[in-house]
Amino acid sequence: MVKVAIFGATGYTGIELVRLIVSHPLCEVSVLTSETYSDKRFSELFPTFKGLCDIQLVDSNTAIDMLDDVDVSFLCLPHGTSMGVVYKLLAKNRRIIDLSGDFRFKDVSIYEKWYEKKHLFADILHKAVYGLPELFREKIKKANLIANPGCYATSVIVPLYPLLRKGLIKGTVIADCKSGVSGAGRKSELRLMFSEVNGNFTAYSVSGHRHNPEMEEVLAEATGFKPEILFVPHLVPINRGILSTIYVDIDENYTWDDVRDIYHDFYGDEPFVKLYPKGRMPEVREVRNSNYIAISWEVRRDKGKLVIVSAIDNLVKGASGQAVQNMNLMLGFEETVGLVSLSSIV
Ligand SMILES: NC(=O)c1ccc[n+]([C@@H]2O[C@H](COP(=O)([O-])OP(=O)(O)OC[C@H]3O[C@@H](n4cnc5c(N)ncnc54)[C@H](OP(=O)(O)O)[C@@H]3O)[C@@H](O)[C@H]2O)c1
Repeated sequence: MVKVAIFGATGYTGIELVRLIVSHPLCEVSVLTSETYSDKRFSELFPTFKGLCDIQLVDSNTAIDMLDDVDVSFLCLPHGTSMGVVYKLLAKNRRIIDLSGDFRFKDVSIYEKWYEKKHLFADILHKAVYGLPELFREKIKKANLIANPGCYATSVIVPLYPLLRKGLIKGTVIADCKSGVSGAGRKSELRLMFSEVNGNFTAYSVSGHRHNPEMEEVLAEATGFKPEILFVPHLVPINRGILSTIYVDIDENYTWDDVRDIYHDFYGDEPFVKLYPKGRMPEVREVRNSNYIAISWEVRRDKGKLVIVSAIDNLVKGASGQAVQNMNLMLGFEETVGLVSLSSIV
């Protein structure tokens, strides 16, 4: 069995990773970290894991000295904190999948502008591979350090990539995205309180969000062409899920079938991309708890626009599920192992 460490196991993406690894047939949880609860067992905090994951939590410094038998480390830590742990683990020649934004940019100035902090390990940024299997599968297989994508970024990059490769995108793309509250992590903050969020719906970071440059830089790296994207996130009163509505200027000759042919060329064999039939829009409940991205589109010839709708679970395809997909590729496993589960709709 492959042994796994999860740093930041008590946060939303960390708990989701424990859930996925406990049910993965080829892996087992070996080390779990928390700074706040390092005197507790994981199943004391989350009793449904009793008998499934009773491991004693340790702080991250202690964990770094416990990794001799560990094959893969997942880092579910805040950005800024993650980079130092990555540095220490790389020095020990470990396989790492970092869920934070610390290693997603090749250009350190973009990271420092958008994350508003100095990157202390810019000299190792080039070692990271952006962990979006649909775009970078072959590089991921050979990587030791994966920068797992942002959740919003995943929901926008996957639908845009084939269109950009085919030269279909002109002008500024508008990405209007809505996320459930777990996207902000398991921390207390006024704007995330039940009474603030329930029955409410608001846009935020309208002046600019750090996933915007991530979308543009990654698509430029993958296609050689940098798109102009105007991304605006919204907070909706659901626990999990992202629905992105993406508006693209399109040549008036393009039809729904043309777009279908492009998507089928790129994603027809992709195990986690679900291309929906004409007229059927994705819903977040259909991908909840699953590693799928559901995509649908309409051509609005009257407005000269292609409208694409994508749905993911921010904690699975947008974070921990995608991280397991990357681990499967790095270790030479079947890419889907441990990840095939459908949502229950209601
Ligand atoms: N939530 C999402 O949908 C999502 C999606 C994609 C990527 N991400 C990224 O994934 C990472 C984790 O996100 P999350 O939503 O799981 O966050 P979270 O719920 O806030 O959990 C953060 C975890 O990090 C630990 N932690 C906090 N400060 C720490 C420090 N100074 N040193 C060591 N550990 C520390 C916490 O441990 P204790 O509190 O137990 O000490 C907790 O286990 C973030 O970088 C986030 O941007 C999140």
